[in-house]
Amino acid sequence: MAVQAINGQTRIVGIFGDPIAHTRSPAMQNAAFQACNLPYVYVPYLVRPSELSRAVQGIRALNLAGVNVTVPHKERIIRYLDTLSDEATLCRAVNTVVNREGHLFGDNTDGRGFLQSLQEYGLSPTQGEVVLIGAGGSARAVLVSLMRAGYGPITIVNRTIAKAKSLLRSYCNLGKTQLSTLPLGALQDAQLLKRTSLIINSTSVGLHGEDFFPLAYGVTPRNCLFYDLLYRPEPTSFLRRAQKARRTMLDGRAMLLHQGALAFTLWTGVSAPLIPMRGALFKALQ
Ligand code: ATR
Repeated sequence: MAVQAINGQTRIVGIFGDPIAHTRSPAMQNAAFQACNLPYVYVPYLVRPSELSRAVQGIRALNLAGVNVTVPHKERIIRYLDTLSDEATLCRAVNTVVNREGHLFGDNTDGRGFLQSLQEYGLSPTQGEVVLIGAGGSARAVLVSLMRAGYGPITIVNRTIAKAKSLLRSYCNLGKTQLSTLPLGALQDAQLLKRTSLIINSTSVGLHGEDFFPLAYGVTPRNCLFYDLLYRPEPTSFLRRAQKARRTMLDGRAMLLHQGALAFTLWTGVSAPLIPMRGALFKALQ
């Protein structure tokens, strides 16, 4: 929205995080509001951890329409909210808050955004095995959504095997999906990778340009999709090798777009204009 168009009817949404200067969500969400001609503005809020409780009170006090929530608040914000979606309860993390006349509803659109990007790409739940590398917060959101949508069997691969096992224990009763765990060295296991249709990197490895773990890229099926939740550097070190092996790839921009699209709809009730959102996001990331 042009500054001149802000008036007494304008609704404010934003994002709480620390740090926040890097966020590209304002570009993406403001492009969406503009494309749909909606009277909303999206702004970044630097919220220190010690201020989180007061910042959440501020959502009510200032009548914000809602917020996105990012690192390091996604888990701790739960205690300050009124109700949670099933997804947020299962993941124990919130990335979107909706202010319903002072009642704060917490949802998590990360995993569903990930799923939407898979569906947009055309990978259906019946197409083969999944390898999920990493067992942190983002792995949790992705795992829950994959299981709820019926993807699998899923193998969780992590440096610290105890964390992979703990993730498995948390969700093994969620559905019928067969879950297993393996240590990182298993990425060289040709038998597993031969059956895999989707390999996801949810670790931060590669963020600072370091090489990815040895992985038998060449034995994966020709149509195996490599999905890195990171999007920097482009291509990420996980995807660089996939590219060399001529495999198809998605990076974290796809998930970022779709989690944002779902948040947009939660706040406005309007289906998200993906084309201008994608355009604004990719431009902001250049
Ligand atoms: P996020 O919320 O982004 O998922 P996180 O919860 O800190 O972040 O999880 C980070 C993940 O990256 C973990 O799976 C972590 O592995 P460990 O559980 O063994 O710590 C993984 N990770 C980070 N740096 C790594 C490295 N250098 N080698 C292997 N795995 C790494």
